[in-house]
Amino acid sequence: MMAKVFDLFLSLVIARAWRRSHLERVQGRVLEAGGGSGLSLPCYPLAGWTELVLVDLDQTMLALAAQRELPGGQPMTVCQGNVEALPFEAGAFDTVVAQFLFCGVKQPVQGLRECRRVLAPGGRLFLLEHVRSDHWFLGLLLDALNVVTSRLFADRFNQRVEPLLAEAGWRVVRREDLFLDVIRLLEAVPQEEEAAKS
Ligand SMILES: C[S@@+](CC[C@H](N)C(=O)[O-])C[C@H]1O[C@@H](n2cnc3c(N)ncnc32)[C@H](O)[C@@H]1O
Repeated sequence: MMAKVFDLFLSLVIARAWRRSHLERVQGRVLEAGGGSGLSLPCYPLAGWTELVLVDLDQTMLALAAQRELPGGQPMTVCQGNVEALPFEAGAFDTVVAQFLFCGVKQPVQGLRECRRVLAPGGRLFLLEHVRSDHWFLGLLLDALNVVTSRLFADRFNQRVEPLLAEAGWRVVRREDLFLDVIRLLEAVPQEEEAAKS
């Protein structure tokens, strides 16, 4: 019941266009971490990639995801797992996607390190997150909201994601603000790969 309510809430507040804005760039074998009830599944492109593994902590959310289909009919596996300790071998994926996940992960840097570990050389991470605004008023408003959301829903409304990415060994190669500077799309590559290029 709670999973269905949460699924409905997320489908109302998260625009499909936000999800599509980076899913159109996925390649090869894709991991969607914290994929929840699979609301992103209809937003994956028809072609250009091969397989999806969707992982989430919550079994009831995963049961809803398992009922959804990908538009291009690619094979999909749904499995329970913690992004802080992903149950996959190093280099198992060509793309890692996470949408509105790291605002609620207890150890986000550890989760981001795990995303880097399971990514194959040349792979990319795509994050869609709500973050703290740099605008003074909106930033303060989000700080105030965070007092409530972090206690009631374990969701941090004033988290800055770029410093966490840097600490976890990622370099941001593209940033796009989709709604004010609060809903943000980030594309990142491992720092060591960027360093090897220069
Ligand atoms: C706000 S929901 C977003 C779900 C989905 N990504 C979407 O955009 O519709 C956050 C999801 O992250 C999952 N989650 C939270 N902490 C997690 C963790 N440590 N590892 C894996 N999933 C986690 C929750 O169970 C929930 O399904």
